[in-house]
Amino acid sequence: MAETPPYGLVDDAALAIDGETIVFAGPRAQAPTADRTLDLGGRLVTPGLIDPHTHLIYGGNRALEWEQRLLGVGYAEIARAGGGILATVRATRAAGYERLVESAQLRLATLCAHGVTTIEVKSGYGLDVETEIRMLRIARDLGERLPIDVHPTFLGAHAVPPEFTADPDAYVDLVCDEMLPPIAAEKLADAVDAFCETIAFTPAQIERIFTRAAEFGLPVKLHADQLSDGGGAELAARFGALSADHLEYTSTAGVAALARAGTVAVVLPGAYYFLREQRPPPIAALRAAKVPIAIATDCNPGTAPLVSPLLALNFACTLLGFSPEQALRAMTCEAARALGLRHDRGTLEPGKLADFAVWNVEQPAELAYALGANPCHAVYKRGRRAEPTQH
Ligand code: NIG
Ligand code: FE
Repeated sequence: MAETPPYGLVDDAALAIDGETIVFAGPRAQAPTADRTLDLGGRLVTPGLIDPHTHLIYGGNRALEWEQRLLGVGYAEIARAGGGILATVRATRAAGYERLVESAQLRLATLCAHGVTTIEVKSGYGLDVETEIRMLRIARDLGERLPIDVHPTFLGAHAVPPEFTADPDAYVDLVCDEMLPPIAAEKLADAVDAFCETIAFTPAQIERIFTRAAEFGLPVKLHADQLSDGGGAELAARFGALSADHLEYTSTAGVAALARAGTVAVVLPGAYYFLREQRPPPIAALRAAKVPIAIATDCNPGTAPLVSPLLALNFACTLLGFSPEQALRAMTCEAARALGLRHDRGTLEPGKLADFAVWNVEQPAELAYALGANPCHAVYKRGRRAEPTQH
């Protein structure tokens, strides 16, 4: 059998599309005849990029906190003093629906313009019933406003809100009994996430939330081992999580657990870069154990104010040892897997959605190479040209 060429590239290729779906992808000479054809000028075409971990919706920003961190104050230290995530919670609660939509839509349009056609968006800056639900509704609405599929995730367990500092378990009760039921009933979220960390929630608290999520048939994922090894990877694996994300401090046992469970490792090179972390996730061990690895922007105001998927690819290559080809796979087919969407997107093949990006580059490595450039020529979402700035 012939070896697959790098990136699975096909020279002089054609895609045939019927409605929203690809019906042929391969050499142009073999393409079926079509009613209408479009010449893409010989440009590189890739699957639409998929960003499987973002906190796109938030009020305000944390530039002042970043200034403090540059002077040497730690991320966890700021969080323990009531800043960090809780600062964004205050700004998000105060922002109201329209302002949240407006700022998130700007960020989303930028991501779309860089070739993103599917995105995951978390709640987690409301931390009360009303604002968590508002964030999830905004996530759904954004998918109606822009040519992109938005997959909302409920992240009620992102931080303990100030009202519950004295009794975090009572907040976990609220997440399980007052937030999850209406969110599940109204289908406001496609998955449930939590932050497993000394400054956030314990494995025991998260087990309660994940158990409840399972009762509602909602898949789970986890912010795991970002700042310390809290057994997050093992916890995610125990619940058959779609993904375990961050993983800087994941142990050998954690890697083995992910491999056994088939859980995707989502690495967030933007957060690793922006926090100036010294300890990279165990990429070589994950690869050796055959854990699928995806990349996401983690777009959020605290650890990764990043709206360029291409910079995420670059950071993965320069900081975490990815090849440009591994990075591109991690933001297409492996990212689709991290969202449980491998069946209908992430590659260009018959039966998959016609989600693709057209690039002004000579070779695919340029996607991860050009710092701060945007060589995206056009984006197609479900077979139609996407115009992210017009809605
Ligand atoms: O993925 N680690 C927790 N959550 C986010 C950061 C959120 C914030 O700082 O606002 C993350 O890094
Ligand atoms: Fe995150």
